[in-house]
Amino acid sequence: MNNDIKEIMLTKEEIDQKVKELGKILADEYRDKNPLVICILKGAIVFMADLLREMDIKCEMDFMAVSSYGNSTESSGVVRILKDLDTTVQNRHVLIVEDIMDSGLTLSHLVELLKQRHAASVKVVTLLNKPERRNVDISPDYSGFTIPDEFVVGYGLDYAETYRNLPYIGVLKPEVYSK
Ligand code: XMP
Ligand code: MG
Repeated sequence: MNNDIKEIMLTKEEIDQKVKELGKILADEYRDKNPLVICILKGAIVFMADLLREMDIKCEMDFMAVSSYGNSTESSGVVRILKDLDTTVQNRHVLIVEDIMDSGLTLSHLVELLKQRHAASVKVVTLLNKPERRNVDISPDYSGFTIPDEFVVGYGLDYAETYRNLPYIGVLKPEVYSK
């Protein structure tokens, strides 16, 4: 698996440090608010698991799965809910945890949806932010790293469902795509 990686963009140590910082900030923000923390499957699962353990507050978690990408590296422009929440968000402080904000399409759609369902507040934390690719007017409320426009894998992020379990964020060798 490691042989398919051209370059490590963010090391495990850099990620761990950043997740700790974000956890502290978010714990302060959400203390006594019993937030509903929503993991966007599957990409955010590793980040969510680490982040929540850095947040020393009472909270609940739920999961949502949406599709916009299929197996390609380009957005299809369509956001479809594959798995909805088990919890009602009405009057809840909602924190959406996502792996990356790219075009912004997925998150702008989800934020709108949860506001329509009368959440008390809706905020977004993403581990990665690719602002160069944005084509809707949105930015994450909290983000770990701003990265250049390169397709990355690891720490939850996949190429064709593989590489999610890499402990770092890396760039794939071009020959992996053309196989
Ligand atoms: P949008 O464009 O809606 O996309 O902001 C968000 C979703 O796109 C996926 N995505 C990536 N996945 N490496 C990945 O493995 C990437 O570089 C990348 N860029 C976008 C991701 O699933 C995210 O939820
Ligand atoms: Mg994703």
